[in-house]
This record gives sequence, C-alpha cells and structure tokens, in this order.
Amino acid sequence: MKGPKIVFVCRECGKTSPKWLGKCTDCGAWNSFDEEEIRENPKITSINRGRSTNKAEKFSELALPTYMRTKTGMGELDRVLGGGLVDSSVVLLSGEPGIGKSTLLLQICSELGKTRKVLYVSGEESKGQLKLRAERLGILGDSIYLLTETDIDAVLDECADLKPDVVIIDSVQTLSTMRLSSVPGSITQVREGAMAFINYAKNNGAAVFLVGHVNKEGGISGPKVLEHMVDAVLYFEGERTNSYRIIRAIKNRFGSTNEIGVFEMGDRGLIEIPNPSEVVIAERPKNTSGSCAGCVMQGTRPIISEIQSLVAKSVYATGKRTSDGFDYNRMCLLIAVLEKRMGLKFYENDVYLNVAGGIRLDEPSADLSIAMALISGITDRVIPDNLIAFGEIGLSGEVRAVSHIDYRVKEAVRLGFTKIILPNKNITKTLKVPEGVELCGVSNIYQVLVYMISKSDEQV
Ligand code: TYD
Ligand code: MG
Repeated sequence: MKGPKIVFVCRECGKTSPKWLGKCTDCGAWNSFDEEEIRENPKITSINRGRSTNKAEKFSELALPTYMRTKTGMGELDRVLGGGLVDSSVVLLSGEPGIGKSTLLLQICSELGKTRKVLYVSGEESKGQLKLRAERLGILGDSIYLLTETDIDAVLDECADLKPDVVIIDSVQTLSTMRLSSVPGSITQVREGAMAFINYAKNNGAAVFLVGHVNKEGGISGPKVLEHMVDAVLYFEGERTNSYRIIRAIKNRFGSTNEIGVFEMGDRGLIEIPNPSEVVIAERPKNTSGSCAGCVMQGTRPIISEIQSLVAKSVYATGKRTSDGFDYNRMCLLIAVLEKRMGLKFYENDVYLNVAGGIRLDEPSADLSIAMALISGITDRVIPDNLIAFGEIGLSGEVRAVSHIDYRVKEAVRLGFTKIILPNKNITKTLKVPEGVELCGVSNIYQVLVYMISKSDEQV
C-alpha cells in the first residue's frame, strides 16, 4: 500500500520541496524544513464533490451567543481572559521554560475543580513530581485528574472516558502521534496535537489550555504556528532573575487584548498583584537623579511605573545607548528631540534607560516621563518623589494630549503624587483633583525644563 504523501515545508517562508533541504533556496534560512503529510482524497475532485448545504444567513437574524464563563480563582488571569474561562474555547499559554506556566495552571485547578471536572495532562513531569508540587501549592479537590501521557490518541481516549470540562495540555510540544513519522516537537506533530484538542473543545464544550514553550529569540516554531488556530493567545513574560511575572493577551476572541495580569513568584507559587503601581512605588529610591514616575494604561487599568536613566560621559566617539522596557528607536527619537530643541548634549554621553518593575511602556504617554528622566539624568537635578508626568512628545518638542486622563490622574492621586505634569490640552473643567494636588499643564518640552530647573532648586 502506498504511504501518505510527504512534503518538506520551510517554516520561514513556506517553500515546499519533495526532499529535505539544509538551506532554503528561496529565503536562505538554514535548517528550516519540516516534514509534513499531505492528506488528499483522490476520488473527490472539484467537479464531483457534491453541493454543500451550508447557507449564508442575515447578520440581523443571527442569535446572540451566550458565553459560559468560569472563574479561575486568579483574578489577574480572569482579567486577561476577558472575565473568566469560556467553555468550548482553546487558550494557548506560551512563555519561556521556567517562567511559571505549569505552576499557574496547576494553581487554577483548585478553583476550577470546585465546579468542573479538570484533567491535567503532563508530558514533561512525572506523577511524583506533580504530586509534590500540588501538595506544596495546596491543590485540593476530588475532581482534578492527572494523566502523564504524550500520545495524542491515548489522551483523546482518556478524554472520551473521563469527559472532563477543562483539559490542560502541558505541553503541546511533548504531544505526538505514531501516525506521523516526524519527531515530537516538529511543526507537523505540534499542529496535529493542537488540532485534535481544538476539535475536542468544539465538539464537547470543554475549555482547553495548551502550554507552549518559546525561547528568547522568538524562534517559536511550535506555538507560533498555532496562534491563528486557537481562540486566545496569552504570553507569560518576566525575567527569571526578577520575581514579577506578567501575562499579556496577544489575541483574544472573547475579550480585549490590552489587559495584563501581574503576578509574583513566591515559595508557594504565583501570587496575584492586583495593584502593581503600589509595588513599583514602594521600591523607588529616594533623591536620585535620572528617575521619574510615569503612568501608562494597560487596558482599563492605569499602571504607574518608574523610569530610570543613567547618563554618563562616554569614552568612545559615539555614545552607547540601551533601553530596557521601552522601544529603543523611540528613545533615540526623544533624545534627538531634546538635543535639537533644547541643546542638551547627549551625543557626548552613554545613555542607559530602564523601566523598573518589568512593565513595558508601549504607549506614547510615557514620552514625557522618559524625557524628564533623561533631562534629570543629564543635568543631575533630582525630580521630587511626589511628581509624576504623562504626555506624548512630538518631533518639534510639543507635548500632545493623551487619552484616559481621569483614570491616570485618579491613580496618581491615590498613590500620593501631589504634582502632576500633563499636557495643557488635557486640563479641562471636568478634570477634578483634591486639594493639595497641583496640576501643571505644559504645551512643549521647553516649559518642562524651565519647570524642572526652578523646582529642583527648591528641592535641593
Ligand atoms: P514552572 O511552572 O515549572 O515553569 P514552566 O512550566 O513555565 O516551565 O515554574 C518553574 C519555576 O518556578 C521554577 O524555576 C521554580 C519556580 N517556582 C517557585 O519559585 N515557587 C513555586 O512555588 C513553584 C511551584 C515554582
Ligand atoms: Mg512546565
């Protein structure tokens, strides 16, 4: 009998070849070919395929769906999921190895197990290891099941018997089937495994979590190809040296992708941090130049962060620049604006920028606080602890209005900031602040410099 037809596909550009190639002849990538099986049914052609009975319907007449959401017991995860775990949905949780994916999913078993039957499938750890971890994390409940298995069909068989409402696959890269000849972890196997559980979720109304490992370079041959197949893609981020962990939704068919969830890894697993701003503020150093507080919106939540800059005389002809937590090119642009519009000589200096706490500032409103941290760094003038700034900076040095001003001001006031530098345009009659809080509207970056120089003389 003739076996299935096999082709080799370049994972970078999609070129197909009947033979394995070491280097792609189209895009030049090395070692990028994966084996793929082609399933065709030669008896069906476009002429004799028969007519489909699927009919288009009017949008106005479609029934509204009702999503059944289950709380996971982790408010921060629910927030990212859009309010809880949706039945019949498939969520891909990706992140670097060791970041805490297994820990998080094991922790939510407890709460989900109260109302649902949960099956945790592990292809990575032994039963003993998982039992130990579950004991340590305090996982209790009679409807939480564990299966250590890597064969897709064996897992599906067990699912058919057990009929779980929630299935956790840890991880999708360890799953494989004998039906395909490629090795576990190859794109074909990963896709096959994911497809099997997507079908399971849709046919049985179960919610499925797929864990996917990625590496730092983003060379995530596995999980990346799954992103368009699943309902939600969550990224677990954080530095291993730092105990804070952030979950971000990259895609979510049942909610917003702007929300983030913040956790801290401790001795007893992950702990939620519902007020990340407080943590950042508590760790701020006092009376050092180069530091400024800013506020960015993450979905509906304003988060206060601290920006630190270090501007030091360069020993090279061109200064070195690094940025952690903020877009490098945007930092260079802000430096250029400060050089050109205000004559500050950054080119003679090395500039290091860091956002404390591991939050990424990817919103233009961070511009003003970054510019102020840079000015403070180069002039060595300390910005008072009770000052916070937000605003977008344009190429001619103008400060532009930002969105959600009420939320930002409220959060700043809640955390004890009493001087708020904000775009002039954002100061309206409806913007109310309690007594003792000073709103300082600016319309260009030059006014900020004047303000900083006059104020810091009082401070010192
Ligand atoms: P893990 O969930 O196994 O990561 P992943 O599944 O993403 O690969 O978490 C691994 C790390 O978390 C490990 O280095 C130990 C640490 N950890 C704690 O610090 N405290 C804990 O209570 C647990 C369970 C893990
Ligand atoms: Mg794991």
